[in-house]
Amino acid sequence: MIEQIKKHIQEVLAYQTQDTAEIEAFRIKYLGKKGILNDLFAQFKNVPNDQKKEFGQVINELKNAANQKVNDLKETLQNEQDTALTMDLTRPGEPFPMGSRHPINIVKNRIISIFERIGFTLSEGPEIEDDWHNFTALNLPQHHPARDMQDTFFIEKNPDWVLRTHTSSVQIRHLENNRPPLRFLSPGRVYRNEAISSRSHMMFHQIEGLYIDKDVSFADLRQTLSYFTQELFGKSEIRLRPSFFPFTEPSAEVDVYWGLETEADYRMTKGTGWLEIMGCGMVDPNVLKNVNIDPEEFSGYAFGMGIERIALLLYQIGDIRLYTENDIRFLKQFKAELF
Ligand code: PHE
Repeated sequence: MIEQIKKHIQEVLAYQTQDTAEIEAFRIKYLGKKGILNDLFAQFKNVPNDQKKEFGQVINELKNAANQKVNDLKETLQNEQDTALTMDLTRPGEPFPMGSRHPINIVKNRIISIFERIGFTLSEGPEIEDDWHNFTALNLPQHHPARDMQDTFFIEKNPDWVLRTHTSSVQIRHLENNRPPLRFLSPGRVYRNEAISSRSHMMFHQIEGLYIDKDVSFADLRQTLSYFTQELFGKSEIRLRPSFFPFTEPSAEVDVYWGLETEADYRMTKGTGWLEIMGCGMVDPNVLKNVNIDPEEFSGYAFGMGIERIALLLYQIGDIRLYTENDIRFLKQFKAELF
Protein backbone atom coordinates (compact mmCIF):
# COMPACT_ATOMS: atom_id res chain seq x y z
CA MET A 1 0.00 0.00 0.00
CA ILE A 2 2.73 2.41 0.98
CA GLU A 3 4.50 1.60 -2.28
CA GLN A 4 1.38 2.54 -4.17
CA ILE A 5 1.08 5.88 -2.42
CA LYS A 6 4.69 6.61 -3.31
CA LYS A 7 3.83 5.91 -6.94
CA HIS A 8 0.99 8.41 -6.71
CA ILE A 9 3.44 11.00 -5.37
CA GLN A 10 5.74 10.46 -8.34
CA GLU A 11 2.79 10.83 -10.66
CA VAL A 12 1.64 14.05 -9.04
CA LEU A 13 5.10 15.60 -9.15
CA ALA A 14 5.51 14.79 -12.84
CA TYR A 15 2.08 15.99 -13.92
CA GLN A 16 1.92 18.93 -16.38
CA THR A 17 -0.89 20.68 -18.19
CA GLN A 18 -1.85 24.11 -19.43
CA ASP A 19 -5.55 23.46 -19.57
CA THR A 20 -8.01 24.73 -16.92
CA ALA A 21 -10.37 21.77 -17.29
CA GLU A 22 -7.53 19.32 -16.93
CA ILE A 23 -6.25 21.04 -13.80
CA GLU A 24 -9.74 20.73 -12.29
CA ALA A 25 -9.99 17.06 -13.27
CA PHE A 26 -6.61 16.48 -11.69
CA ARG A 27 -7.72 18.24 -8.49
CA ILE A 28 -10.90 16.16 -8.29
CA LYS A 29 -9.00 12.94 -8.94
CA TYR A 30 -6.74 13.48 -5.93
CA LEU A 31 -8.39 16.01 -3.63
CA GLY A 32 -12.08 15.64 -4.50
CA LYS A 33 -14.71 14.17 -2.14
CA LYS A 34 -14.44 10.77 -3.78
CA GLY A 35 -10.81 11.34 -4.63
CA ILE A 36 -7.77 9.19 -4.02
CA LEU A 37 -6.80 10.98 -0.82
CA ASN A 38 -10.16 10.63 0.90
CA ASP A 39 -10.16 7.01 -0.10
CA LEU A 40 -6.76 6.51 1.49
CA PHE A 41 -7.73 8.37 4.67
CA ALA A 42 -10.76 6.08 4.96
CA GLN A 43 -8.47 3.06 4.94
CA PHE A 44 -6.32 4.46 7.74
CA LYS A 45 -8.26 2.64 10.43
CA ASN A 46 -7.52 -0.73 8.82
CA VAL A 47 -3.78 -0.19 8.77
CA PRO A 48 -1.91 -2.27 11.39
CA ASN A 49 -0.78 -0.14 14.30
CA ASP A 50 2.95 -0.52 13.67
CA GLN A 51 2.51 0.88 10.15
CA LYS A 52 0.20 3.74 11.02
CA LYS A 53 2.98 6.26 11.49
CA GLU A 54 4.65 5.71 8.12
CA PHE A 55 1.27 5.44 6.38
CA GLY A 56 0.20 8.79 7.83
CA GLN A 57 3.44 10.41 6.71
CA VAL A 58 3.22 9.34 3.07
CA ILE A 59 -0.46 10.23 2.83
CA ASN A 60 0.33 13.72 4.06
CA GLU A 61 3.18 13.95 1.62
CA LEU A 62 0.81 13.02 -1.22
CA LYS A 63 -1.77 15.55 -0.05
CA ASN A 64 0.78 18.37 0.12
CA ALA A 65 2.21 17.45 -3.27
CA ALA A 66 -1.23 17.42 -4.87
CA ASN A 67 -2.21 20.78 -3.34
CA GLN A 68 1.09 22.34 -4.35
CA LYS A 69 0.80 21.03 -7.90
CA VAL A 70 -2.74 22.37 -8.37
CA ASN A 71 -1.65 25.79 -7.09
CA ASP A 72 1.46 25.85 -9.31
CA LEU A 73 -0.45 24.88 -12.42
CA LYS A 74 -3.10 27.51 -11.79
CA GLU A 75 -0.51 30.19 -11.16
CA THR A 76 1.40 29.47 -14.37
CA LEU A 77 -1.81 29.53 -16.34
CA GLN A 78 -2.88 32.81 -14.76
CA ASN A 79 0.48 34.44 -15.56
CA GLU A 80 0.17 33.41 -19.15
CA GLN A 81 -3.33 34.74 -19.44
CA ASP A 82 -2.22 38.04 -17.88
CA THR A 83 0.49 38.57 -20.48
CA ALA A 84 -1.93 37.60 -23.22
CA LEU A 85 -4.35 40.25 -21.98
CA THR A 86 -1.79 43.05 -21.86
CA MET A 87 -0.62 42.24 -25.40
CA ASP A 88 -1.98 44.72 -27.94
CA LEU A 89 -2.66 42.69 -31.02
CA THR A 90 -3.53 45.76 -33.08
CA ARG A 91 -0.01 47.18 -32.88
CA PRO A 92 2.10 46.94 -36.02
CA GLY A 93 4.49 44.00 -36.00
CA GLU A 94 8.25 44.16 -35.62
CA PRO A 95 9.67 45.13 -38.99
CA PHE A 96 11.31 42.10 -40.60
CA PRO A 97 14.84 43.11 -41.55
CA MET A 98 15.37 42.51 -45.24
CA GLY A 99 18.62 40.85 -46.17
CA SER A 100 20.66 42.02 -49.12
CA ARG A 101 22.38 40.22 -51.90
CA HIS A 102 26.10 39.74 -51.77
CA PRO A 103 27.95 42.07 -54.15
CA ILE A 104 29.48 39.07 -55.94
CA ASN A 105 26.01 37.79 -56.66
CA ILE A 106 24.71 41.16 -57.76
CA VAL A 107 27.56 41.60 -60.22
CA LYS A 108 27.27 38.03 -61.46
CA ASN A 109 23.56 38.54 -62.16
CA ARG A 110 24.19 41.84 -63.91
CA ILE A 111 26.81 40.29 -66.17
CA ILE A 112 24.48 37.41 -66.98
CA SER A 113 21.60 39.72 -67.82
CA ILE A 114 23.78 41.84 -70.11
CA PHE A 115 24.79 38.80 -72.13
CA GLU A 116 21.35 37.23 -72.03
CA ARG A 117 20.07 40.23 -73.93
CA ILE A 118 22.25 39.25 -76.88
CA GLY A 119 21.37 35.59 -76.90
CA PHE A 120 23.72 33.94 -74.41
CA THR A 121 22.34 31.10 -72.29
CA LEU A 122 23.78 29.57 -69.12
CA SER A 123 25.67 26.37 -68.54
CA GLU A 124 27.02 25.08 -65.25
CA GLY A 125 29.25 22.18 -64.35
CA PRO A 126 30.99 20.41 -61.46
CA GLU A 127 33.62 22.05 -59.26
CA ILE A 128 35.55 18.80 -59.01
CA GLU A 129 36.92 18.08 -62.44
CA ASP A 130 38.97 15.49 -64.24
CA ASP A 131 42.17 16.30 -66.03
CA TRP A 132 40.56 16.13 -69.47
CA HIS A 133 37.96 18.86 -68.92
CA ASN A 134 40.13 21.21 -66.88
CA PHE A 135 43.35 20.87 -68.90
CA THR A 136 43.90 18.40 -71.69
CA ALA A 137 40.85 19.18 -73.84
CA LEU A 138 41.69 22.86 -73.47
CA ASN A 139 44.96 22.33 -75.27
CA LEU A 140 47.02 21.96 -72.10
CA PRO A 141 48.66 18.55 -72.51
CA GLN A 142 50.36 16.78 -69.60
CA HIS A 143 53.60 18.45 -68.52
CA HIS A 144 52.84 21.54 -70.57
CA PRO A 145 54.45 24.49 -68.77
CA ALA A 146 51.29 26.56 -69.19
CA ARG A 147 49.67 24.37 -66.54
CA ASP A 148 51.76 26.28 -64.02
CA MET A 149 49.82 29.43 -64.88
CA GLN A 150 47.08 28.11 -62.65
CA ASP A 151 48.34 26.50 -59.47
CA THR A 152 46.10 23.54 -59.01
CA PHE A 153 44.54 21.87 -56.01
CA PHE A 154 44.74 18.15 -56.61
CA ILE A 155 42.15 15.93 -54.98
CA GLU A 156 43.71 12.82 -56.38
CA LYS A 157 46.68 12.11 -58.57
CA ASN A 158 46.63 9.34 -61.10
CA PRO A 159 44.06 9.60 -62.40
CA ASP A 160 43.93 13.31 -61.77
CA TRP A 161 40.95 14.81 -60.00
CA VAL A 162 41.26 18.53 -59.38
CA LEU A 163 39.27 21.47 -58.09
CA ARG A 164 38.60 23.26 -61.37
CA THR A 165 40.99 26.15 -61.91
CA HIS A 166 38.65 27.94 -64.31
CA THR A 167 35.14 27.53 -65.67
CA SER A 168 36.52 26.78 -69.13
CA SER A 169 36.02 23.16 -68.05
CA VAL A 170 32.28 23.74 -68.28
CA GLN A 171 32.69 24.90 -71.86
CA ILE A 172 34.28 21.58 -72.80
CA ARG A 173 31.42 19.67 -71.13
CA HIS A 174 28.87 21.76 -72.97
CA LEU A 175 30.65 21.39 -76.31
CA GLU A 176 30.82 17.62 -75.89
CA ASN A 177 27.06 17.44 -75.61
CA ASN A 178 25.85 20.18 -77.94
CA ARG A 179 26.49 21.19 -81.53
CA PRO A 180 27.05 24.72 -82.81
CA PRO A 181 25.78 27.35 -83.16
CA LEU A 182 26.36 27.83 -79.43
CA ARG A 183 26.44 30.92 -77.30
CA PHE A 184 26.61 30.53 -73.53
CA LEU A 185 28.09 31.70 -70.24
CA SER A 186 29.52 29.52 -67.52
CA PRO A 187 29.59 31.19 -64.11
CA GLY A 188 30.90 29.52 -60.98
CA ARG A 189 33.48 29.04 -58.27
CA VAL A 190 37.04 28.22 -59.20
CA TYR A 191 40.04 27.28 -57.08
CA ARG A 192 43.71 28.14 -57.27
CA ASN A 193 46.47 27.21 -54.92
CA GLU A 194 48.15 30.58 -54.93
CA ALA A 195 50.67 31.83 -52.39
CA ILE A 196 48.73 32.36 -49.21
CA SER A 197 48.60 35.97 -48.18
CA SER A 198 45.95 38.18 -46.72
CA ARG A 199 45.15 39.41 -50.20
CA SER A 200 44.93 36.18 -52.08
CA HIS A 201 41.99 33.84 -51.95
CA MET A 202 42.04 30.20 -52.88
CA MET A 203 38.50 30.31 -54.16
CA PHE A 204 37.03 32.98 -56.37
CA HIS A 205 34.24 33.38 -58.89
CA GLN A 206 34.57 33.43 -62.63
CA ILE A 207 32.26 33.94 -65.50
CA GLU A 208 33.31 32.82 -68.91
CA GLY A 209 31.60 33.15 -72.25
CA LEU A 210 31.83 31.17 -75.45
CA TYR A 211 30.38 31.71 -78.90
CA ILE A 212 30.80 29.18 -81.69
CA ASP A 213 29.26 29.46 -85.12
CA LYS A 214 30.21 29.78 -88.77
CA ASP A 215 32.42 32.81 -89.51
CA VAL A 216 32.79 34.14 -85.98
CA SER A 217 35.54 36.73 -86.12
CA PHE A 218 37.82 38.68 -83.83
CA ALA A 219 35.83 41.78 -84.76
CA ASP A 220 32.68 40.10 -83.39
CA LEU A 221 34.51 39.50 -80.13
CA ARG A 222 35.66 43.08 -79.89
CA GLN A 223 32.19 44.41 -80.63
CA THR A 224 30.56 42.15 -78.03
CA LEU A 225 33.05 43.14 -75.35
CA SER A 226 32.62 46.81 -76.09
CA TYR A 227 28.84 46.38 -75.75
CA PHE A 228 29.46 44.61 -72.45
CA THR A 229 31.69 47.29 -70.92
CA GLN A 230 29.25 49.96 -72.04
CA GLU A 231 26.35 48.17 -70.33
CA LEU A 232 28.24 47.34 -67.15
CA PHE A 233 30.51 50.33 -66.58
CA GLY A 234 28.99 52.88 -68.92
CA LYS A 235 32.32 52.91 -70.79
CA SER A 236 32.69 51.44 -74.26
CA GLU A 237 36.30 52.28 -75.09
CA ILE A 238 38.35 49.12 -74.83
CA ARG A 239 41.74 47.94 -76.02
CA LEU A 240 42.96 44.40 -76.62
CA ARG A 241 46.54 43.68 -75.63
CA PRO A 242 48.20 40.56 -77.06
CA SER A 243 48.48 37.81 -74.48
CA PHE A 244 48.63 34.05 -74.20
CA PHE A 245 46.14 31.36 -73.24
CA PRO A 246 46.61 27.78 -74.40
CA PHE A 247 42.96 27.47 -75.46
CA THR A 248 42.74 30.62 -77.57
CA GLU A 249 44.72 31.85 -80.54
CA PRO A 250 45.16 34.75 -80.85
CA SER A 251 44.67 35.70 -77.20
CA ALA A 252 44.29 39.10 -75.58
CA GLU A 253 43.83 40.91 -72.30
CA VAL A 254 40.96 43.37 -72.34
CA ASP A 255 41.43 46.85 -70.87
CA VAL A 256 38.61 49.32 -70.48
CA TYR A 257 39.23 53.05 -70.58
CA TRP A 258 38.11 54.14 -67.15
CA GLY A 259 39.14 57.75 -67.42
CA LEU A 260 41.19 60.05 -65.21
CA GLU A 261 38.60 62.36 -63.80
CA THR A 262 39.05 61.83 -60.09
CA GLU A 263 41.88 61.10 -57.75
CA ALA A 264 40.45 57.62 -57.26
CA ASP A 265 40.66 57.06 -61.03
CA TYR A 266 44.35 57.91 -60.89
CA ARG A 267 44.91 55.52 -58.05
CA MET A 268 42.89 52.67 -59.56
CA THR A 269 44.45 52.94 -63.00
CA LYS A 270 47.93 53.79 -61.76
CA GLY A 271 47.72 57.02 -63.68
CA THR A 272 47.06 55.40 -67.06
CA GLY A 273 43.27 55.65 -67.20
CA TRP A 274 43.12 51.97 -68.31
CA LEU A 275 41.95 48.98 -66.28
CA GLU A 276 42.45 45.34 -67.11
CA ILE A 277 39.18 43.44 -66.81
CA MET A 278 39.42 40.06 -68.52
CA GLY A 279 41.12 37.61 -70.86
CA CYS A 280 39.79 36.58 -74.24
CA GLY A 281 40.64 35.14 -77.64
CA MET A 282 39.59 33.07 -80.62
CA VAL A 283 39.03 29.43 -79.67
CA ASP A 284 42.09 27.40 -80.61
CA PRO A 285 41.36 24.91 -83.43
CA ASN A 286 42.81 22.14 -81.25
CA VAL A 287 40.08 22.72 -78.66
CA LEU A 288 37.40 22.40 -81.32
CA LYS A 289 38.98 19.19 -82.61
CA ASN A 290 39.01 17.79 -79.06
CA VAL A 291 35.23 18.05 -78.93
CA ASN A 292 34.72 16.85 -82.51
CA ILE A 293 33.83 20.18 -84.01
CA ASP A 294 35.41 20.84 -87.40
CA PRO A 295 37.59 23.98 -87.15
CA GLU A 296 37.36 24.37 -90.93
CA GLU A 297 33.61 24.79 -90.64
CA PHE A 298 33.27 26.60 -87.30
CA SER A 299 35.14 29.23 -85.37
CA GLY A 300 34.46 30.94 -82.08
CA TYR A 301 35.54 33.34 -79.40
CA ALA A 302 35.88 32.95 -75.65
CA PHE A 303 36.36 35.33 -72.77
CA GLY A 304 36.67 34.97 -69.03
CA MET A 305 36.73 37.29 -66.05
CA GLY A 306 37.00 37.18 -62.28
CA ILE A 307 33.82 38.47 -60.64
CA GLU A 308 35.60 39.63 -57.47
CA ARG A 309 37.73 41.97 -59.52
CA ILE A 310 34.83 43.36 -61.56
CA ALA A 311 32.84 44.03 -58.37
CA LEU A 312 35.89 45.70 -56.84
CA LEU A 313 35.99 48.12 -59.76
CA LEU A 314 32.25 48.69 -59.99
CA TYR A 315 31.76 49.46 -56.30
CA GLN A 316 35.24 50.82 -55.63
CA ILE A 317 35.68 48.27 -52.87
CA GLY A 318 39.00 48.81 -51.16
CA ASP A 319 39.86 45.33 -50.00
CA ILE A 320 39.02 41.90 -51.38
CA ARG A 321 38.82 40.48 -47.86
CA LEU A 322 35.56 42.33 -47.30
CA TYR A 323 33.79 39.80 -49.52
CA THR A 324 34.28 36.99 -47.07
CA GLU A 325 34.23 38.69 -43.68
CA ASN A 326 30.42 38.79 -43.46
CA ASP A 327 30.55 42.22 -41.88
CA ILE A 328 26.98 43.44 -41.95
CA ARG A 329 28.09 47.08 -42.22
CA PHE A 330 29.70 46.21 -45.55
CA LEU A 331 26.95 43.90 -46.81
CA LYS A 332 23.99 46.15 -46.08
CA GLN A 333 25.34 48.83 -48.38
CA PHE A 334 24.16 46.71 -51.30
CA LYS A 335 20.55 46.69 -50.14
CA ALA A 336 19.23 49.00 -52.80
CA GLU A 337 20.33 46.68 -55.60
CA LEU A 338 17.46 44.88 -57.24
CA PHE A 339 19.37 41.94 -58.67
N1 PHE B 1 40.25 30.60 -68.48
C1 PHE B 1 41.01 31.81 -68.38
C2 PHE B 1 41.47 31.99 -66.96
O1 PHE B 1 40.97 31.34 -66.10
C3 PHE B 1 40.23 33.00 -68.81
C4 PHE B 1 39.95 32.98 -70.26
C5 PHE B 1 38.77 32.43 -70.74
C6 PHE B 1 40.85 33.50 -71.18
C7 PHE B 1 38.53 32.39 -72.09
C8 PHE B 1 40.59 33.48 -72.50
C9 PHE B 1 39.43 32.93 -72.96
O2 PHE B 1 42.32 32.77 -66.68
